[in-house]
Amino acid sequence: MSQTTATSSQTDSADRMVRLRASMSARARAIEGMIDRLLPRVDGGEARLIDAMRYATLGGGKRLRGYLVAEVASLFRASTEGADRVAASVEMLHAYSLVHDDLPAMDDDDLRRGQPSTHRKFDEATAILAGDALQTMSFDILANPLTHDSADVRINLVRALADASGAAGMVGGQMIDMEGEGRALSLEEVARLHALKTGCLIRYSAEAGAILGQASDDVRKRISAYGRDLGAAFQIADDVLDATASAEELGKTAGKDEAAGKSTYVALLGVDGAAKEARRVAEQAESHIDIFGPEADRLRDLVHYVVERRN
Ligand code: IPE
Ligand code: IPE
Ligand code: MG
Ligand code: MG
Ligand code: MG
Repeated sequence: MSQTTATSSQTDSADRMVRLRASMSARARAIEGMIDRLLPRVDGGEARLIDAMRYATLGGGKRLRGYLVAEVASLFRASTEGADRVAASVEMLHAYSLVHDDLPAMDDDDLRRGQPSTHRKFDEATAILAGDALQTMSFDILANPLTHDSADVRINLVRALADASGAAGMVGGQMIDMEGEGRALSLEEVARLHALKTGCLIRYSAEAGAILGQASDDVRKRISAYGRDLGAAFQIADDVLDATASAEELGKTAGKDEAAGKSTYVALLGVDGAAKEARRVAEQAESHIDIFGPEADRLRDLVHYVVERRN
């Protein structure tokens, strides 16, 4: 009897994962289509820049951040067009962060999404400029009335993305990451580093869906807390994967953190300890959205996906 129960609940969770992956693929296609339309090829001197921006944003990536925007926005029945635009915007911001993260001055990575990283495919100057222009474009999309009729909503999105991606967010986290190379950071310091370099943009992605849907402050706070913990679990899992997965699985170089002397959860807690912590933080993420019914099931499944993924 108990075996039957275990087996059916395993089937249930496998089914849910299949459904989540199908939902992610469908939204990823919509986001890619939107990026493609927002970034048409051009002639002239800037053609190379646009080509590099397209290279960095199209054809790959899990689209987790864009998925979060669209899935949360759909909870509040926000317009699909607006949600896809905000999803494309955050994926552009994220792609810029990856292009710059891979530069020789930073992680010096040759491989990204299974392809040569942007500075290897083009050159360093083009990669820097493509990152710059992707960043600017992501804000331009948010400020455009096509994203939402309400100027208040648009300003809220712009401010939230600026907070999440600037010195108090992703870029600040990248500074702490670089500055901490070769030095042992405490668990508390690594948690803060993760929250800034990765957590802020993932938290923003969830929150952006709530802003688009004009959710109440209380609900927005819950969605934000969910995104914060999901982002923390996601980066711990990224550190675990860096130590345990292959370059073929990851589509990026494996084993880079240890080689660069980065302080990670794996360095501090070991692979098993870090994986356990990722699961704990992910469960905490799920608790913040317990006010929703089955319409939030994909967001619940995402919590399991971020810690069980192999890429
Ligand atoms: C990689 O992010 C950088 C981190 C913050 C860990 P993702 O693992 O989401 O990269 P893509 O978008 O799927 O390539
Ligand atoms: C990068 O963290 C976070 C960013 C802000 C881009 P990592 O350096 O661990 O990301 P990967 O492993 O290169 O994707
Ligand atoms: Mg890095
Ligand atoms: Mg890196
Ligand atoms: Mg990493």
